[in-house]
Amino acid sequence: MTTKIAVFASGSGSNFQAIQESIERGELNAKIELVVTDKPNAYVVKRAEQFGIPVFSFSPKDYESKATYESEIVKALKGKSVEWIVLAGYMRLIGETLLTAFPNKVVNIHPSLLPSFPGKDAIGQAMDHGVKITGVTVHYVDEGMDTGPIIAQAAVEVVEGDREATEERIHQVEHQLYPKTLKRLFEK
Ligand code: GAR
Repeated sequence: MTTKIAVFASGSGSNFQAIQESIERGELNAKIELVVTDKPNAYVVKRAEQFGIPVFSFSPKDYESKATYESEIVKALKGKSVEWIVLAGYMRLIGETLLTAFPNKVVNIHPSLLPSFPGKDAIGQAMDHGVKITGVTVHYVDEGMDTGPIIAQAAVEVVEGDREATEERIHQVEHQLYPKTLKRLFEK
């Protein structure tokens, strides 16, 4: 059975694209029903359009509360029978409304070996700390910041003094690890 998913992103959307390309190659049996973004001008919107995938974009400041905009999102997702929420660079905490509507069905990718360096700019945090090995984590999402149960991890060697090169390595690993991990989860 094809698993129906929504990808949430706030930025460039390279992980969104890696997942979609894995689907198109026939490696991941899933369909991205909707891209959800809290940044209407993010590059992920362009990428989604190029693949013909509908986008739900919203500005949190237009809503009274997180519960209000999350209720709208839940409506949109249920309307498309979405089963899993896949966070890919969505830089906002998921609230109770979404977590209750999709119990144990929200996953995230984070650019560090959690529990090290949660939160924003994990790559910068790792480099400032001088670690030699960092990595990527895929985990279930709970109310905390990058705190849910870990599903998969991969190590990445830091390129000393070169943030861009380190980030490039992280992205390459993410683009392999995320589709592979989703495949495993959806086949369970
Ligand atoms: C990715 O590196 C992802 O791990 C990170 O944002 C980037 C999004 O890139 N997520 C977090 O830091 C979440 N705390 P992309 O928009 O090109 O997929």
